[in-house]
Amino acid sequence: MVHTNSPIGFFDSGVGGTSIWKEVITRLPKEHTIYLSDSENAPYGEKSKEQIIALCEKNTKFLLQKNCKIIVVACNTATTNAIDSLRSNYNIPFIGIEPAIKPAALNTKTKKIAILATKGTLNSTLFEKTSSIINKDIEVKETTGKGLVELIEDGKLNSKEMTSLLSSYLKPMIANNIDSLVLGCTHYPYLIPQIKKIIGEKIQIIDSGEAVAKQTQVILNKYNIANTHSNPQHIIYTNKDTAILQNLLSKCIPENLRILKAKF
Ligand code: DGL
Repeated sequence: MVHTNSPIGFFDSGVGGTSIWKEVITRLPKEHTIYLSDSENAPYGEKSKEQIIALCEKNTKFLLQKNCKIIVVACNTATTNAIDSLRSNYNIPFIGIEPAIKPAALNTKTKKIAILATKGTLNSTLFEKTSSIINKDIEVKETTGKGLVELIEDGKLNSKEMTSLLSSYLKPMIANNIDSLVLGCTHYPYLIPQIKKIIGEKIQIIDSGEAVAKQTQVILNKYNIANTHSNPQHIIYTNKDTAILQNLLSKCIPENLRILKAKF
């Protein structure tokens, strides 16, 4: 039986969705959370829609066994390929994340924006639908960030390989005179310091973390399941290496966080 004291569940293809999890626990500091890092199966972005749906179902079942009250799909690739299927198969609220191209399109001055995302997100029907309502005067340069997720999953956030791969994706965007860069993958906020070194301060970087945290709060209130009294406990389960997560979160490990290896 789900109640206010039940945890909020999260999953991602790996460690990246913790960028969203951090926003949520900052906004909702009384909530217990359980996060699944499906690193063994990363990257999702190169998989077929059917494979992505099957992985999302597996993750959802694990979180339901842990009695989660809502599930945040902390992955653009999983959301854009599987959220409709999850919503029709499971009787629990799902919060998804999509690339924030609408706000970027509303604010651009140069009428040129760029989006960096996975192949799975950029090729999805949901993303196509969102892009189709963008004003036709605005040029949207889409780039697949192939290889970035793998480097982050390998703990090579600050490596030379990362800098040169990022440069190869970002330099053509700068040459194209964009003024906004949408990060369409939850792993990429971890790259913001390196991205800024390449693109400078003039190009605005947009991600959807805060919007997801706000929406999570709205949904908890709507269903009357927000927690107001707890001393929150956080568990991150990974099916790969716990050290990568320890390093990634070293600057912001909240109290009562356990990072555990599990099979799922
Ligand atoms: N964090 C996932 C996303 O937002 C990464 C996708 C992948 O595993 O390729 O899309």
